[in-house]
Amino acid sequence: MATFATLSFLARKSLASKMSTTKMIGALALAISLNTSIAFGSSSAATPLKPAAVASLDQWLSQQEVISAQKLMANVSPSDAAPGVVVASPERNHPNYYFHWVRDAALTMDTVFELYVHAQGDEAQVYLDRLIDFARFSRQNQMTPTKSGMGEPKFNYDGSAFNGDWCRPQNDGPALRAVVLTRLANYLLDNGQEEFVRAELYDSAIPTNTVIKADLEFTSHHWTAKNCDIWEEVYGDHFYTRMAQKRSLIEGAKLAARLGDGGAAQWYRSQANALDAEIAKHWDSSKQVFVPHLGWSGGLDYKHSGLDAQTILAILHTGLMPFSDARVQSTLKALTESFRALYPINKVAGIPGVGIGRYPEDKYDGMGFQGGNPWVLITAAFANGHYRAALELINEGHVDKARAHFHEGDELMKRIQYHAYANGSLSEQMDRHTGYMTAARDLTWSHSEVLQANWSRKKLLKALKLSVVH
Ligand code: NOJ
Ligand code: NOJ
Repeated sequence: MATFATLSFLARKSLASKMSTTKMIGALALAISLNTSIAFGSSSAATPLKPAAVASLDQWLSQQEVISAQKLMANVSPSDAAPGVVVASPERNHPNYYFHWVRDAALTMDTVFELYVHAQGDEAQVYLDRLIDFARFSRQNQMTPTKSGMGEPKFNYDGSAFNGDWCRPQNDGPALRAVVLTRLANYLLDNGQEEFVRAELYDSAIPTNTVIKADLEFTSHHWTAKNCDIWEEVYGDHFYTRMAQKRSLIEGAKLAARLGDGGAAQWYRSQANALDAEIAKHWDSSKQVFVPHLGWSGGLDYKHSGLDAQTILAILHTGLMPFSDARVQSTLKALTESFRALYPINKVAGIPGVGIGRYPEDKYDGMGFQGGNPWVLITAAFANGHYRAALELINEGHVDKARAHFHEGDELMKRIQYHAYANGSLSEQMDRHTGYMTAARDLTWSHSEVLQANWSRKKLLKALKLSVVH
């Protein structure tokens, strides 16, 4: 796979070496405005699908990965939106999710980055172009006057400020955006694009003109500020937000050092270290779980269980703790059992796995507040957590334990398969009584999380094969 990435990049580079970066990007933009179709390298999307529940998980996933990539890309820079926008869903009414959410967008573009490094030729160019549009759009977001400044959670799809009431600021956004753009910057640096990186992604200037530096400056100076959590409901200090902040500062420090911004590198690292003590406070030794919120300062006040899937998402999205860590496992288990007991659909015999929701007290049904449901993206993230744990255990030589996690991960993915639309559409939620897909349709983040889980599963399948040979 690494060879693919290098080759495809070199193919682009030979084209690029004849042009300046700006011209190169201009040429890519032209290719896209000419409506370059995106080939996903498979015709299976066109063939009729077996009912999802009948196909094996492997069959379903091999179709779903093509469909999810297409559905995800359809929500990135849709034609009526500003270039670089990632709409949370194509749905504009029930509910209106046709906005650029900073968190959803950053996580989605991380998936687009993966697609990019594994693609070739024209297809790779489309992904690169979207990534660069996203970087530029994000810089525009930073400079747009909004109600809460850098932590503004969402923007209108034309790029203008969203000025309605909202739970703001949400400070995970700048951190997540910095993480994905730092990955992009490192990749471009590895491939000789330093001029572009310094001009548009990371300069060493204060005040800065670049998107990553602005996010790192904000995060390093404001991580102690209370803000609204990823579910847009609680004010305080949040495990997810702090983990994202820490990851961004660690990666940011490395990038700063790489680009000769030594003082900044030291500062970012010192703030990343300072976050450790705060993150550690989220471990509740009596409950044996990581708790989502500390220092509650407003918003919902009925989350008494201390259970919240955002803790697992935090570990998945930051990689800051191994999934085989006993604390992570105990949190994962407590959440899984709680949702198994809570949702009627999880008690119906004969359906594999468990549908996982945000937190047990949740009331948000995607439109109103008639009661929480299992979510596709969270169920996929939990599956991914099991796959990651399995990969770690294989590295440590514990193949049997790894198999158990592989099985648990697959059960969760089969649960999504069972409730998925036959055409591969995935909404935000699965109705807790009927299992039908409900809430925002084709949620970009649902597709993104299913793709990520599938990629971990593929790595795991390979690792398991190798472990048998040894
Ligand atoms: C919409 C948010 O997106 C959702 O997460 C939240 O539960 C409701 N608003 C209530 O604040
Ligand atoms: C509601 C979720 O709670 C929030 O995390 C997400 O950003 C928005 N929906 C948009 O998908």
